[in-house]
Amino acid sequence: MILSSVPEAPIRSDQAAHAPGGRVLVVDDHEEARESIAEILRHSDHEVHCSPSAAEALRRLDDESYDVVLTDLNMPGMSGIELIRHLEKREHGAQIVMVTAYASVATAVEAMRRGAFDYIEKPFTAAKIEQLVARAIERGRMLDQRYACDRTTTATAGEANSKATESSGPAMIGESPVMAALRERIAQIAPTLETVLISGESGTGKELVARAVHAQSERAESPLVSLNCPVLSAQLMESELFGHERGAFTGADAPRTGRFELADGGTILLDEITEIELPLQAKLLRVLQERSFERVGTSRSISVDVRVLATTNRDLQDEVGEGRFREDLYFRLAVVPLVVPPLRQRCEDIPLLVAHFKDHAAARLQRDPVVFDSSAEQLLQDYRWPGNVRELQNIVTRASVLVGRDKVSAEDLRPWLIDAEGSTEVAAAEVPAGLSLHEMERKLILATLDHFDGHRAKTAEALGIGIRTLSGKLKTYGYAPRTKDFSKAA
Ligand SMILES: Nc1ncnc2c1ncn2[C@@H]1O[C@H](COP(=O)(O)OP(=O)(O)OP(=O)(O)O)[C@@H](O)[C@H]1O
Ligand SMILES: [Mg+2]
Repeated sequence: MILSSVPEAPIRSDQAAHAPGGRVLVVDDHEEARESIAEILRHSDHEVHCSPSAAEALRRLDDESYDVVLTDLNMPGMSGIELIRHLEKREHGAQIVMVTAYASVATAVEAMRRGAFDYIEKPFTAAKIEQLVARAIERGRMLDQRYACDRTTTATAGEANSKATESSGPAMIGESPVMAALRERIAQIAPTLETVLISGESGTGKELVARAVHAQSERAESPLVSLNCPVLSAQLMESELFGHERGAFTGADAPRTGRFELADGGTILLDEITEIELPLQAKLLRVLQERSFERVGTSRSISVDVRVLATTNRDLQDEVGEGRFREDLYFRLAVVPLVVPPLRQRCEDIPLLVAHFKDHAAARLQRDPVVFDSSAEQLLQDYRWPGNVRELQNIVTRASVLVGRDKVSAEDLRPWLIDAEGSTEVAAAEVPAGLSLHEMERKLILATLDHFDGHRAKTAEALGIGIRTLSGKLKTYGYAPRTKDFSKAA
């Protein structure tokens, strides 16, 4: 069971061809609340419908499918939690997010145990709800991808991707020696209770590896709760991790259960762990050592039985050297390191991955798989893939959506590649020699964001990075979007 986990795939079902975001149903008896959420989400390119009651939402869900259902908790008649209980019993394909002004721990936990993706407390910012819905959509895509993949696996038993089975975890394509070694190491490590540090460049599949470790462990039936560190402020992060008591800080109107408590008996995934700031690292170290912690605002210790997985796309040893990461925490985390190799070190897997993503896109779009001519195949093979598997997945999906029935040539693909010759107008922006890599990255990201009028999903796709990685970087640049127009970069 995965409570909150978020790898990305660029395209959602056939409906996505019409709605660049996802289809969202907002259920709330208060018209004003419903409409304000709907308005925020429409600005992020989602197709939003509203229901004034849980009963009406159930009727709608009989006929229509949604990526996300955002439901208020307290409604007259059927409550949000009752709606979730009903939905638990039927096929609906939506990720459910519970919205509540009174986050009673019991209801939040019940909602999540009954399959809700997450809950959000009122009042919340536009940015928070956008992020949550984006993550919920991503999770749905991931599950769809897994489902399509399982079907492909059954149909093509014996082929390379037959490694993807429900019991061993999500489909991890690749037969190269480095991937075989990684798989072997996952199989060794998964059954242990050790903390695992998964490192690798952006888009290499770290989260996929984390899910495989969980799926192959004895905790597979227990929750895998993930926390995406880059998108949270220090205070929110502490309360997300450890929970808080009512009144612990301004705005903490109700108690909140932290992710460590939600993961009790299962696994927690701390995604991009270097984003956790030093003071909080000390508290995390204690959890790793003693498996106990206190909620913010209390001195009562809570003990949990949680396996910890962490990912990083930075060199943690460097971070330690620079004084940004505690050495003792590094040693605790790095007991069992897993390194996910960049795609350029496993070029022999490219054709397998291309075939996998083509079939996947074709299944979603309900058409025949896209065909690449030899120039396109050569380009895909020779390119260095700075955005790794995610970039490859984006390119294949984009070709599947945009190029229709014709064969795809290298010329069709080149403009979409981040740093191929003749690639996107954005990448061609003037960059004076002598800039540090850091500064150049910042300029490229902001220029791309500007190019796409502040649209993060499009920016992340063009750059071949995850939307969360993008958000994390923007956070470090101090970039703050205006609430509604997702302003251009400063
Ligand atoms: N070996 C693989 N087989 C199939 N799909 C893969 C593989 N590796 C990665 N992917 C897909 O590529 C995308 C990126 O993977 P993932 O999110 O796990 O990468 P990441 O290393 O966590 O990226 P980031 O650093 O940006 O968070 C996902 O959609 C994932 O399903
Ligand atoms: Mg990741």
